[in-house]
Amino acid sequence: MSDLLELEHISLAYDTPEGPLPVVTGLDLSLQRGHIGCLLGASGCGKTTILRAIAGFEPLRAGRICLGGRVISAPDKAIEPQDRHVGMMFQDYALFPHLSVEGNIAFGLRRWEKPRRQARVQALLELVGLQDTRQRFPHEISGGQQQRVALARALAPEPELLLLDEPFSNLDVDTRERLAFEVRDILKKTGHTALLVTHNQAEAFAIADRIGVMHCGSIVQWDTPYALHHAPATPFVADFVKREALMAQRARAYQRGLAAE
Ligand SMILES: Nc1ncnc2c1ncn2[C@@H]1O[C@H](COP(=O)(O)OP(=O)(O)OP(=O)(O)O)[C@@H](O)[C@H]1O
Ligand SMILES: [Mg+2]
Repeated sequence: MSDLLELEHISLAYDTPEGPLPVVTGLDLSLQRGHIGCLLGASGCGKTTILRAIAGFEPLRAGRICLGGRVISAPDKAIEPQDRHVGMMFQDYALFPHLSVEGNIAFGLRRWEKPRRQARVQALLELVGLQDTRQRFPHEISGGQQQRVALARALAPEPELLLLDEPFSNLDVDTRERLAFEVRDILKKTGHTALLVTHNQAEAFAIADRIGVMHCGSIVQWDTPYALHHAPATPFVADFVKREALMAQRARAYQRGLAAE
């Protein structure tokens, strides 16, 4: 299988009053077509910045980004975000409050002919299991259902690549894990390629074919979930994997305790 997404030695920085703040330096990553990749790392390590660069919202200081074999970003070249065929679902997935579920899903399809648009919306409603709520407004459905609408909206224009930034962060631990499995099923069924960002390890392991553990703006190991557990490349990865597993266990035990009260 060929690689759909290639980040080749990319560097990213923000301009601040004190001068440029380097966030990512010389980072490499390849994601195979049909795979779900996940960047896992502590707050502030540069995950969102990388997704924004892939989507076309941050300029590259060095390196290049290729999608389907064509260069979409380089220091002297940047394809416009809307011409990249990249779908996004960000942390604050904010649905349009004045549009119904189906209105939200159809939002990116305004230029499509009506019959094609209606068929696409119907197929997506079925895919995410929301046929019965199609005419409700965002405030009339649950958080998990809202997240599924946001996913359907991002998938609607048939992007080549889907970027998901902490898509389940507003949900409780049990819902987020269930939804992570559901989203994996949906993406696998449709053969989508996706890059997901999280700092929740359980979520990463539930959904990803490849996980990149990040530390200070670089990827320490890009590997299968199995390999991360059984053959961590560095003591940092080993510690990170162990510590996060313990935290997830504690969070679940804590929530069960609250539910029992
Ligand atoms: N617009 C900005 N201007 C200056 N610095 C920024 C800007 N956006 C982010 N940063 C800094 O860049 C670094 C990486 O931020 P980024 O948002 O990519 O982290 P993250 O890994 O997504 O964190 P989190 O898990 O908290 O979402 C941080 O140190 C952050 O403070
Ligand atoms: Mg972030």
